[in-house]
Amino acid sequence: MCGIIGYTGHLDALTVLLRGLEQLEYRGYDSAGIAMLSGEGEDRLLIKKAGPVATLKDACEELEVRSHCGIGHTRWATHGGVNDTNAHPHIAGKVTLIHNGIIENYHNLIEKFGFRGSLVSETDTEVAARLLDYYYHGDPYEAIRKTIREITGSYAFCIMFEDIHDKIFCVRNVSPMVAAHMEDGSFVASDVTALIPYTKRYFVIPEYQIVTLAGDSVSVQDLKGDPVTPEMLEVNWNVEAAQKNGFPHFMLKEIHEQPEALRNTIMPRLENGLPDFSEDGIPDAVFSGCDKIAIVACGTAMYAGMVGKALIEPILKIPVSVNIASEFRYESPLVDEKTLVLVISQSGETIDTLAALRLSKECGAKVLSVVNVKGSTIARESDHVFYTHAGPEIAVASTKAYMVQLASLYLIGCRMSMARGKFTEAQARDFISRLTSSISAVQKILDNKKRIKEAAAVVAKAQDAFFVGRGLDYAFSLEGALKLKEISYIHAEAYAAGELKHGTIALIEEKTPVIALATQDHIYGKTISNIREVRARGAFVILITKTGAEIPEDICDIHFAVPVPHDRFTVFPVAVILQLLAYYTSDLKGLNVDKPRNLAKSVTVE
Ligand code: AGP
Repeated sequence: MCGIIGYTGHLDALTVLLRGLEQLEYRGYDSAGIAMLSGEGEDRLLIKKAGPVATLKDACEELEVRSHCGIGHTRWATHGGVNDTNAHPHIAGKVTLIHNGIIENYHNLIEKFGFRGSLVSETDTEVAARLLDYYYHGDPYEAIRKTIREITGSYAFCIMFEDIHDKIFCVRNVSPMVAAHMEDGSFVASDVTALIPYTKRYFVIPEYQIVTLAGDSVSVQDLKGDPVTPEMLEVNWNVEAAQKNGFPHFMLKEIHEQPEALRNTIMPRLENGLPDFSEDGIPDAVFSGCDKIAIVACGTAMYAGMVGKALIEPILKIPVSVNIASEFRYESPLVDEKTLVLVISQSGETIDTLAALRLSKECGAKVLSVVNVKGSTIARESDHVFYTHAGPEIAVASTKAYMVQLASLYLIGCRMSMARGKFTEAQARDFISRLTSSISAVQKILDNKKRIKEAAAVVAKAQDAFFVGRGLDYAFSLEGALKLKEISYIHAEAYAAGELKHGTIALIEEKTPVIALATQDHIYGKTISNIREVRARGAFVILITKTGAEIPEDICDIHFAVPVPHDRFTVFPVAVILQLLAYYTSDLKGLNVDKPRNLAKSVTVE
């Protein structure tokens, strides 16, 4: 996710751009830049800096030039490290470009058009700028049409052509972009946050249609050049509400961003329906050369690792351990040069996880990390990095980062299974097809949230809650319990369903909520038996199964069915149900959902 702003009109462009970038900084903040056309001659001004928008603002202080047309970008790195060169805007010949999204075939474009020698950055965006310039011979619409015909992936482009002084051209696919025109001029931005100080009336830029911003007008045309009248919308949010895209909390917004985060993490790693990590620079030797795997992480990331273990170990048939980083780093872990250490961290800065990484390297292990923040310490110190593309996660309680960590582990597990001869290509293709189908299952849960809120109303009254499951369901339940306790302050524990009767069942009383996960066919009957045990003691049972499961009479108070046929892939919609259950419980209790007491987003202290 990145922040995009563009303006042309009679106001001072620099002021408008910097203000807009400050309001969009929640969308990405590892680097920022602006480009402006001065209006006189053909000179354009470009300033871009690694670091927050404040760094860019400082760099703009001495600027003399005044302009009335420009574009600005605040970056959440996906391709290429965090530095001035990779920051946007990118210039290629007469083209200046900013971009939000992921161009999946940028490597192919480099080869097809012979751009390699002319690239100065490591970004996919610069390739798009090169392509626009390649096709630009005075007609911006022709250049844009030909360029987007070549591109695969998601994009929101804002384009300036050096010889067209006061105009900005925009086109999008998947990535968001809105535009508006009023007496002060014409604006384009990633979302309404940056428009609100100037206007409440805007329109969403229709996909695959070209928007032209001029100082006195905004026009829209389709790819045939026919004019289009977009639907005008009215927003009554303040800036803070807009940063949450109208959601009451960042956590709920981020829960709803999960389908996009999954697409952005999975799709760029698929080639002909198979996992392909060539762009990540992760060779198969990393997967075929080890005799065991040690997963190391903290909190939610560690629970993602538990799912990874439950998935990968039975397929690869090699030991897969999951290690709490704060324990691992002070033990003498069984790690050597034949161990693949899989480090998982959203922030890439968790001190215990970083220490575990360093210890692993001292033991001679190869480290592959799954990280959401580009250029973070853990990423920089790893031998290989598999970046997730969830975008910035603002809420302390991790949701979309967990989701894409899971997707990453599924992709890695599949690639590893191929590399070690455990999956044929056909099996791998089937696995990937089921993984990508999980994205629509996530969307279905998001589209049917009402009953989850009803279940939360019961849970919100409890002091204690228990999550039970077997196999993969047990691994899912660990994260469900953490989500609930960290934002609702209800004492919640996850238990292997068969373990409950060895003591903990003594805690089950009338109306004690038990969230029972039963999505694994081969142990469904056993789990149902365990549920009967808690039911007999008065528990309020919230049961989660696959659609079509046979539900025994009076086994539960509320039943949720996840629309995923294959056991291995139920985690994705199940995770959304458990996230929403925790979210609504906390909200019903009137607690600070985004900033729960005692917690920090990244634990950089021991
Ligand atoms: C998750 O909801 C928590 N905020 C916390 O457990 C978090 O997952 C943990 O601190 C690890 O953080 P990391 O992924 O940034 O390393």
